[in-house]
Amino acid sequence: MAKITAVKCIRTRVNGTWGIVKILTDQPGLYGIGSASDHYHQDAVIQAIETMIGPRLIGRDADRIEDIWQSFYTSGYWRNGAITNTALGGIDMALWDIKGKEAGMPVYQLLGGACRSAVPCYAHAGGSTPEALAEAVQAYLDEGYPVVRCQLGGYGGGGFLPSNKTSRPENAWQSDKVFDDEAYLDAIPAMFEYLRSTLGFGPKLTHDVHEHLRPQSAVALSKRLEPYRLFFLEDVLPPEQIQWYRLIREQCTTPQAMGELFINPHEWMPLITERLIDYIRVRVSKVGGISPCRKIAALCETFGINTAWQEGGDNDPVNQMAAVHLDMASWSFGIQEENHFRQDEYDTFPGHAILKGGHIYPNDSPGLGIDIDEALAEQLLVEHEVKTPRYAAEDRRADGSVVRP
Ligand code: CO
Repeated sequence: MAKITAVKCIRTRVNGTWGIVKILTDQPGLYGIGSASDHYHQDAVIQAIETMIGPRLIGRDADRIEDIWQSFYTSGYWRNGAITNTALGGIDMALWDIKGKEAGMPVYQLLGGACRSAVPCYAHAGGSTPEALAEAVQAYLDEGYPVVRCQLGGYGGGGFLPSNKTSRPENAWQSDKVFDDEAYLDAIPAMFEYLRSTLGFGPKLTHDVHEHLRPQSAVALSKRLEPYRLFFLEDVLPPEQIQWYRLIREQCTTPQAMGELFINPHEWMPLITERLIDYIRVRVSKVGGISPCRKIAALCETFGINTAWQEGGDNDPVNQMAAVHLDMASWSFGIQEENHFRQDEYDTFPGHAILKGGHIYPNDSPGLGIDIDEALAEQLLVEHEVKTPRYAAEDRRADGSVVRP
């Protein structure tokens, strides 16, 4: 039986925003890795692991994943914070990695075995005009992606007006562009009108609102997009306003995806059990790892909801691999957000998942099947980038008030 002897964090990527946990054991060569990345608060997550969780793990049995998860979930008394969830998520993944290595099986085998041959993904297409976007969507469809997300440029794209074309106070704070709900409510249905008229209704398309709208505008957009038969509409509401999904459900059949900002079971429970959304989008590390996600996937199966684990561009290859193992073994899987990396980033993670033709393939190595080359991980870091603070985008309305990112 393996006992935990050390817990450490390895920081990597150019800007140091990937934090990889490594749990070592008293068995020769037996260790596991997990993702504890946080794009904005990486120092705080590492601090939580190295000073709070890590020291108390020394000497524990590495095979008691559920017991370790349950005891550390409440070990700081207050729980469900983004920082502590991420720390626990990394630990949990590393323990599943160790268990798989001990069993001589990939983690998806321990979760019940494969119920699909590979993991279908959705790609991110963007264009500053509907014409450019249609070309980008077609390129992803040609590549083999079964689903494509469609955006007019960056988040909120289509909803920005030049500041001088809006009614602004004379002491306006915003100098260049402002976000406007009505502009967005015009632009996005027009974008889908163009995409459907050129690509037809065959392609499965999604759109990500990234919470930019006021709640009543979110209801209106969902209804206006109904004729374009989206695969799903993502984050049309911010986490603070999830009760509005009831009103959306009463108004239209546009499928809804939500959850990448969720950290607390009280956020996803009502949406799943009342069937108010169609796809749950939590990030595996942000809710505490593989252990809670396999329970979420089981809950989803009961209520007819699908999973679409979040994998935005700031995610690392280890979190991606954890999601892929869940995807392989969960019948309630719906679609996986794609994520791809630079070649030197792939080189840093031997055994990483293979993304090809719009599908991700795990490997059959025991555990998560992915490792970290610590020398290469260190080489990726660029000191001044690591020291630069990072913040989420700060879009504003004409009067200067902040739009939820
Ligand atoms: Co999103």
